Amino acid sequence: MAGELPLARFCFRPDPPSVWDMLRSGVADVSTVIPDSILDLPAVQLPGPGAPLVIADPALVRDVLNDREGRFERDRFMRRLLRRAWGKGLAAAEGQSWQDQRRAAAPAFRPQAVADNAPAFAAAAAKAVENWPQDEPVELTRRTARIIADVVFTTLVNGRGEVDTAAVAADMPGYVRRIASFGNRDLLPLPEAWHDRLSGIDRDPAVRRVRALAERLAAGRGTSEIDLVTLLDGVGPVEDNLRGLFPAAMDSTVAGTSWTLYTLACRPAWQARVAEEARGCGGDLRLENLPLTRRVVQEALRLYPPAPFLIRTSASKGQLGGFPLNKGQPVAIAIYAMHRHRIVWDNPDAFDPDRFLPECGTQSGWLPFGAGPRVCIAAQFALAEIAVAVARLLAELELTPTGAEPKVSLQVTTKSINGLHVTARPRP
Ligand code: HEM
Repeated sequence: MAGELPLARFCFRPDPPSVWDMLRSGVADVSTVIPDSILDLPAVQLPGPGAPLVIADPALVRDVLNDREGRFERDRFMRRLLRRAWGKGLAAAEGQSWQDQRRAAAPAFRPQAVADNAPAFAAAAAKAVENWPQDEPVELTRRTARIIADVVFTTLVNGRGEVDTAAVAADMPGYVRRIASFGNRDLLPLPEAWHDRLSGIDRDPAVRRVRALAERLAAGRGTSEIDLVTLLDGVGPVEDNLRGLFPAAMDSTVAGTSWTLYTLACRPAWQARVAEEARGCGGDLRLENLPLTRRVVQEALRLYPPAPFLIRTSASKGQLGGFPLNKGQPVAIAIYAMHRHRIVWDNPDAFDPDRFLPECGTQSGWLPFGAGPRVCIAAQFALAEIAVAVARLLAELELTPTGAEPKVSLQVTTKSINGLHVTARPRP
């Protein structure tokens, strides 16, 4: 269609990896060792002792994530990453402590709480519109990070003290990169604290600033009814939960919002329809009033799922989808590959939000928020936040892509290495 640009995608390697490839880069970045055949097959076993089984078939993925028989657990890197981020807070907790914290946090994400926060989502986007540089290129990830930080500090964490949201937004990518970095050195059998000391995490300036902010806010009092940390106070550790919440609530949502906006910049006809829907709401921007925008966000989260992989480990010897599994063997749940799978989707690389029309039924291969007991607690919150923010922005701005095509990377989040650049002008 006129004005449409090609949509960037990640290219898996054309050939199967060697054991040497696995040793060289498989630990640091699993996406570099997965062959393109994962887009046609239910699963691919990577070579070498203890190498992951990569799965992309919706039934297998649900089997692992729902895990009714307790056959899978989180792998040791994931546990370490979660402990670095969350200490003993919600996402890192296990057993009774996890159940208690999950139950305590739930009111923040109930449908009514999400609906009540729609004005806060719209206000954060309106502030961004006011400060948006017109007719000059803007990198979307950085812009949307400010919006999402404003949302977090007016909804889930509010009133605990002054926060420079622009500074937190700027620190978050470096913080996430740092706490999520693992390499071959991490395979050495050393105590966890030694690993962190060797890797210099504790000395990293962004890590220190984020930890200092959590410490300061933990001492304050929340004023929002859904202040997540107040809800969790007495059930889980306050400072750990604050520290974990920042990246969990920001990094994935920033990725989801900026990919949605960028994809719409490449699809002007859909962008115009989103703007028209937003303008037709008469200022009452909430998810129920934005069915088309909701489909657009769902489709953008399919093409660019913020969490491209979820990792589990087989708790015992067994099999999965006909593949043998050893005890302790990692299973890499390739959400990105499942979302683009050639058997699961018609025309998988095309942008077609109407796949999510109610009459098309449930899309079982769509799992940007995971599934099972550990499914994202904030899935509805995030969906509404992205849809309302995108609608509010596009009601006033018209985005056009500028610069080079994005280079997609699937590390902790699905990102563009060279950014997502657009120019905005007032929408007529
Ligand atoms: C587009 C935005 C988001 C995406 C794609 C996303 C994705 C995910 C995924 C895939 C998981 C499951 C991880 C696993 O099974 O290993 C998860 C868990 C989680 N997410 Fe989100 N998330 C998003 C936004 C948020 C927000 C806004 C919050 C705010 C608090 C949040 C908080 C959490 C928490 C606390 C967990 C852990 C739940 C548990 O272990 O019980 N997420 N998220």
